[in-house]
Amino acid sequence: MVSLRGLRNSIISHVMKHVYSYYERKLLSEVKRGRMPEHVGLILDGNRRWAMEAGLTSEKGHEYGFEKLKEVLNWCWELGIHVVTIYALSTENLQRDKREVENLLRLAKKGFSEVLNSPEIHRYKVRIKAIGRLDLLDEDLRQLIMQVEKATERYNDNKIYVAIAYGGRVEIVDATKRIIKSVLSGELRMEDIDERTFAKYLYTNGDKDPDLIIRTSGEERLSGFLLWQSAYSEFYFMDVYWPALRKIDLLRAIRTYQNRTRRFGR
Ligand code: FPP
Ligand code: MG
Repeated sequence: MVSLRGLRNSIISHVMKHVYSYYERKLLSEVKRGRMPEHVGLILDGNRRWAMEAGLTSEKGHEYGFEKLKEVLNWCWELGIHVVTIYALSTENLQRDKREVENLLRLAKKGFSEVLNSPEIHRYKVRIKAIGRLDLLDEDLRQLIMQVEKATERYNDNKIYVAIAYGGRVEIVDATKRIIKSVLSGELRMEDIDERTFAKYLYTNGDKDPDLIIRTSGEERLSGFLLWQSAYSEFYFMDVYWPALRKIDLLRAIRTYQNRTRRFGR
């Protein structure tokens, strides 16, 4: 027997589904009329809080976060966002307790191995590049990353930068060291170092800076994400935890970006 309350709830959820789907379509058509950000940075945050509220373990939270990431990347390609940088793991994240770090690295391995057989990666011609202190990762993962980079190096419709063992300050320090090396070897003259040259020594090799950086979970900070590259990015912070992100949340972020006027300080 269906209780009255059960019936009421099922009617509400049915109606909500229709409302969301209508709203999503409306937002999508609005956003498609505007200019799409070419490069979006994603700070995925809130996996553990989401899990705790759902009565799940942190491990499960990261697993759901990982599944959400794949979904979001597909939304980005459908929308015509060509470069996505994801903050998968910061150098600070590597200081978390051993079990959690192992679990995160296991997920990273799963992610990179899935790429090799992913129909979407090949359909959307996605080039993948890892950025960060890869020397801090174990040999297996490094080999796998190299394999993925090699397998996708010819693709140039879309690109994913996976920030892993990444820290923005370390990136700038590493770039500085490489510049000094080039100067000492005579490859680069000191007078030729300007912002453009400097950017070429970063992990992102002078690629296009992010137009929009999105962080989930209500935290409003960069936590070292793309420090140099984010100088003129638009920021969008949202309260939802990463695993709970809906397509309408992404679309709203893009609509907000489209409504802002970027002046690059001029
Ligand atoms: C933030 O939530 C999420 C992370 C630190 C890890 C995200 C990484 C993955 C989902 C794995 C994917 C990896 C690859 C390379 C594809 P949090 O743990 O900070 O949660 P909290 O803010 O609620 O504590
Ligand atoms: Mg967090």
